[in-house]
Amino acid sequence: MTKNRGAKCEISFEVNGERKSVRAYPMERLLDVLREQLNLTGTKEGCGEGECGACSVLIDGALVDSCLVPVGQAAGASITTIEGIASNPRFGPLRDAFLEYGGAQCGICTPGMILAAAHLLERKPAPSLDEIREGLSGNLCRCTGYIQIMEAVAEAARRLGAR
Ligand code: FES
Ligand code: FES
Repeated sequence: MTKNRGAKCEISFEVNGERKSVRAYPMERLLDVLREQLNLTGTKEGCGEGECGACSVLIDGALVDSCLVPVGQAAGASITTIEGIASNPRFGPLRDAFLEYGGAQCGICTPGMILAAAHLLERKPAPSLDEIREGLSGNLCRCTGYIQIMEAVAEAARRLGAR
């Protein structure tokens, strides 16, 4: 569990395009603040140790494990969670491809996988399979065997490129 040190303070940042302020200990995990204070429960906890990527979010465009980020470090940042991706029509083909290709089973890894895939496709609109593998290498899945996930991302890239 998180060790809380010091006093709670007001911490402000942008989440999915909206300005938010929370009262939190600066060392609280961003993951917990997103889920418990902002009710953004799409971000999942898997390992809690920076190994699985289930808690992935984008902070100022960088893919990070929110279980490793003290919320104080996010002050002033722009954060995107899976809810922000879900409401962005640009990523509709990515969501559809995950559903159609069986890229999600139990779903615990899915928000992080989609965040990682969105991050990859923003930087590399037509990734090779090796680049997809590399782009998702920080995200673990215990259910799918990864093939369907990689196929879903490749298909999403085709659909986004065809727009
Ligand atoms: S829960 Fe954060 S990396 Fe696994
Ligand atoms: S779908 Fe279950 S961990 Fe990936």
